[in-house]
Amino acid sequence: MPAFSTSAPGKVILFGEHAVVYGQPAIAVPVKEISAKVIASPLINASRGVIRIEAPQVSIDSDMAELSDTDPLAAAVRATLKALEIEQPPAFKLHISSSIPLAAGLGSGAAVSVAIARAVSAFIGKPLPDERVSAIAFEVEKLHHGTPSGIDNTVITYKKPVYFVRGEPIQTFQVAVPFSLLIADTGIPSPTRIAVGDVRMALESEPERFDKIFRQIGEIAKKAKNAIEAGENQKLGSLMNENHGYLKEMNVSSAELDKLVEAAQAAGALGAKLSGGGRGGNMIAVVNTNDFEAVEKAIQAAGAKGMIRTTVQ
Ligand code: MEV
Repeated sequence: MPAFSTSAPGKVILFGEHAVVYGQPAIAVPVKEISAKVIASPLINASRGVIRIEAPQVSIDSDMAELSDTDPLAAAVRATLKALEIEQPPAFKLHISSSIPLAAGLGSGAAVSVAIARAVSAFIGKPLPDERVSAIAFEVEKLHHGTPSGIDNTVITYKKPVYFVRGEPIQTFQVAVPFSLLIADTGIPSPTRIAVGDVRMALESEPERFDKIFRQIGEIAKKAKNAIEAGENQKLGSLMNENHGYLKEMNVSSAELDKLVEAAQAAGALGAKLSGGGRGGNMIAVVNTNDFEAVEKAIQAAGAKGMIRTTVQ
């Protein structure tokens, strides 16, 4: 059996994080500059059913049988084998690596699951269609945080900009005028599970206030889709600023994120906001090509620990 190598991109949420968990629309795009990579290869001289997992970045080098049921890597492999209806596959090894920062709002968990599902199913000789791959990654997302909306696994599986509403079929849209994004890392890891759990508790204690915020964010996401389709990138920027304001009201921003967002805005970005679960992780800014250097400098001075440039098209 030959070896199979697969990869899956990272992602950023442009609009609508958190509100999307409660049925509002959100917009996300793949980030191809970062990716998770999985190589599946035969394990020679091992009996059927033995699966070895090597993921040096998270210090894993073990037989899958030794990993707990809640280990996300093992869970992705098990869910894939279940989807393929195979109990005892020929022995194989998975080598997993990723350039997507962990717990940073960039979809690292979903990207690893998508790449595992693709590598394992291709290795077995039955590559799964996108819909099944996305469903496997969604199952594993539930381990990362109990109530995922499904946006991360969707944008990462389909590798295109998505306008996403929980439980509805995937909608794509046309980007009339490509725009550039600067993604900047606070360097503070922040598991999505915690921010999502805190928002749920806040919603329970102040349902009216939070419902209203979610609806307002949903309106912003709708307007943003129209702006992207009309090539109105300036408007896109102001909608981002507005969305960040609501995320602050929801208490999912942080001093570090606000500092990066404000530095980007002051240095000429068209708009900026936190992206993903918040609290730490990354912020994004829409920036005209001519202003990139000034914005990068300002963000660096404001404490960014890493930056990625990407184009949405
Ligand atoms: C995580 O990338 C985005 C959140 O809205 C959670 C989710 O949609 O599952 C915070």
